[in-house]
Amino acid sequence: MVTMSVSQLINPHVKHLAASLIREVADAAMGRSDVLAFWFGEPHESTPEPICDAARQSISAGETFYSQNLGLPELREGLAVMLNTWHPDAASRITADRVAVTSAGVSGLMVAAQLMIAPGDRVLALTPVWPNLLQSVRLLGAQIQPLALEIDRSTQAWTLNLAKVIDALASRPKALVINSPNNPTGWVIAPHEMAAIVEACRRYRVWLLSDEAYTKLVFGPAARTNQGATAPSALDTAQPDDPVIVSSTFSKTWQMTGWRLGWLVVPNGLSDEVAKLVEFNTSCAPVFVQRAGLAALALGSAPIEAFRARLEQRREVLLSGLAAMPQVHCPRADGAMYAFFQVPGHTDCLSLARGLIDTVGLGLAPGAAFGEQSRGWLRWCYAKPSSILEDGLGRLQQGLRQLRAA
Ligand SMILES: Cc1ncc(COP(=O)(O)O)c(C=O)c1O
Repeated sequence: MVTMSVSQLINPHVKHLAASLIREVADAAMGRSDVLAFWFGEPHESTPEPICDAARQSISAGETFYSQNLGLPELREGLAVMLNTWHPDAASRITADRVAVTSAGVSGLMVAAQLMIAPGDRVLALTPVWPNLLQSVRLLGAQIQPLALEIDRSTQAWTLNLAKVIDALASRPKALVINSPNNPTGWVIAPHEMAAIVEACRRYRVWLLSDEAYTKLVFGPAARTNQGATAPSALDTAQPDDPVIVSSTFSKTWQMTGWRLGWLVVPNGLSDEVAKLVEFNTSCAPVFVQRAGLAALALGSAPIEAFRARLEQRREVLLSGLAAMPQVHCPRADGAMYAFFQVPGHTDCLSLARGLIDTVGLGLAPGAAFGEQSRGWLRWCYAKPSSILEDGLGRLQQGLRQLRAA
């Protein structure tokens, strides 16, 4: 009798799932004191103290039990109030019954994918994009059809070919996945582009999953033209009955990556379906983490703006440093916390990323992690103090010299 190995017994969608290339590079050098690490998208600072205090108090008060699947009612209400202040001109007010608290962005994205996707579905995705967004969809057996962002020749900025996206929506895929402000490019969608996409999704009955994890991290013209430095959102024009899901997280805006807290805004009448999915994924976010989330909301807009302003300064340090290097090409973009750049002549970003670690102790993420089209690219998270960024820039300069010479 031929016996199948246990690995042959696992779900083929899992077997075919690619491991994270960012992890692959980082794992080999994590913890090395000689390596400056910019590979993950994490703020440098730890979580503000009032948020930590709220969690400590909640644990001390014995809040160590399950909560409702969709989260504490007061947190759902608080999120709805906050979203209405972030999007004051939204086509319709966001109500708490459409908000689901999730165990951070990744879990919210999985729940959203489970709500929309069946095996064999075709899903459009604007790329390059953070790999986890697509992997949850692949895991459910859908095929991804990438639609590439482009670089405008005259402005050298990332840009969307809107006509191409609308045409693709007319072919009635199951869903379109967008992430703006974008990880890894920093691209921020324009208000008219988001409005046109929401309208087309409504017309063609295509799901729009809009990952807005970095919505409060916009800079330059994008910060000045949008209300209170908020990126254009699908919530600005979506009606409660539209096939639109918005996903977000506490991780970046409040420096809470390790807490695992996020939220979804879903169409009217679907919260019960979402509650079922949360039940079978995580059952609920821990209550003391939700209390921390409430404390974050209570801090208001000042710490968010202060964080954004700090990042804007750091972004300037990194972008001007990269612009001064003739061997680097970094298209401009106005959001998130990354510089995404190409080193012409280097087509294998994995070996380039490894080479920079080995020669000068510089830890960057390989572009290939974000899609086929960015094989020669590198991503650098600039959520670090300027002195560290400057040290990194010096290392990049030296590393590229050494790697060319080698
Ligand atoms: C685009 C995007 N969405 C969602 C997330 C999820 O973050 P978390 O799971 O920490 O909430 C990330 C994290 O890097 C991200 O880059």
